[in-house]
Amino acid sequence: MNNLRPVGIIGTGKYVPEKILTNSDLEKMVDTNDEWIVSRTGIKERHIAAPDQATSDLAYEAAIKALESAGMTGSDLDLIIVATITPDSSFPSTACILQDKLGAKGAAAFDLSAACSGFVYGLATATSFIQSGMYNNALVIGADCLSRITDYTDRNTCVLFGDGAGAVVVGEVPEGRGFKAFDLGAEGAGGSLLNIEGGGSRLPASAETIENKKHYIYMNGREVFKFAVRVMGTATIEVLRKAGMDRTDVDLFVPHQANVRIIQSAMQRLELPEEKVVVNVDKYANTSAASIPLALVEAAEEGRMKAGDTVLMVGFGGGLTWGASVLVW
Ligand code: ACO
Repeated sequence: MNNLRPVGIIGTGKYVPEKILTNSDLEKMVDTNDEWIVSRTGIKERHIAAPDQATSDLAYEAAIKALESAGMTGSDLDLIIVATITPDSSFPSTACILQDKLGAKGAAAFDLSAACSGFVYGLATATSFIQSGMYNNALVIGADCLSRITDYTDRNTCVLFGDGAGAVVVGEVPEGRGFKAFDLGAEGAGGSLLNIEGGGSRLPASAETIENKKHYIYMNGREVFKFAVRVMGTATIEVLRKAGMDRTDVDLFVPHQANVRIIQSAMQRLELPEEKVVVNVDKYANTSAASIPLALVEAAEEGRMKAGDTVLMVGFGGGLTWGASVLVW
């Protein structure tokens, strides 16, 4: 990527809904307890969208802030990518709904489905479009309302998820800065470990699919855990290799926020000290595509990166998929 036009992040914004669901709230809903949730996952609370909020509403709030911080308006955008597994509806895409709301007249707009890796997939896609010269400014958003596809009678999953959105404007940056490498991948054979079976063309929504709860997330937690620990390590090492760097070059590690134990195993493998790792899973839980941008934007707001710092983002999710990137801030 070294000889191409330098492309990086030029604006950031985030949004989480007001309502907070704590572990003690969940204790009243299913057979669980705060000690189990915190020790197994690191999660203390999560934000839940109001009944009248859909994914595009969360994405819009984050997008407005990202545009403002880039000193832009919707009309400056050429491309909008929304990474999500909870679109407002099958179609039109959530990106098209946003394109209209933001006044991004004529901008290309599409949704991207790579679950929790979606934001990094979106960054790679936008970067490629801009490096090729096809577009100049792209809005990349990770947004999900997992509460809408979570079974709140299933203690195996309902304690894990939350709602939110993170947005960045991607555009040309000064020489030496920007994205240095991406590593994207998938293992489709593991698709059934983490999925929603009903509501698509294979098993259309019916009274039966609803009765059998096929419209909710199914997850084989132990197998996903093993996959996550493996690919967080391998993808990180691979993306650093592609960037011509090693672990000592990393100033800030921004992992997908699914489970603090998965983050800790990656930290140990890379021998990264705590102060170089962003962890906010305790406040937001797993927000799928929103997880990495929420962590990145929060770190930026807290002043945890300065110009020239090397930021490594890495995530994994349904598909199964993974995505990692090296960015010079
Ligand atoms: N409260 C209390 N007990 C519970 C709860 C709960 N909320 N949930 C499960 N348990 C019980 C189980 O039933 C099990 O009991 P049993 O032994 O009697 O059957 C026991 O706790 C232990 O269960 P394990 O599955 O061994 O627990 P584990 O330590 O593996 O933790 C967890 C489970 C947190 C789900 C873990 O496996 C995990 O984080 N997996 C990865 C999840 C993930 O990262 N998903 C990301 C993708 S999400 C996406 O793409 C949208």
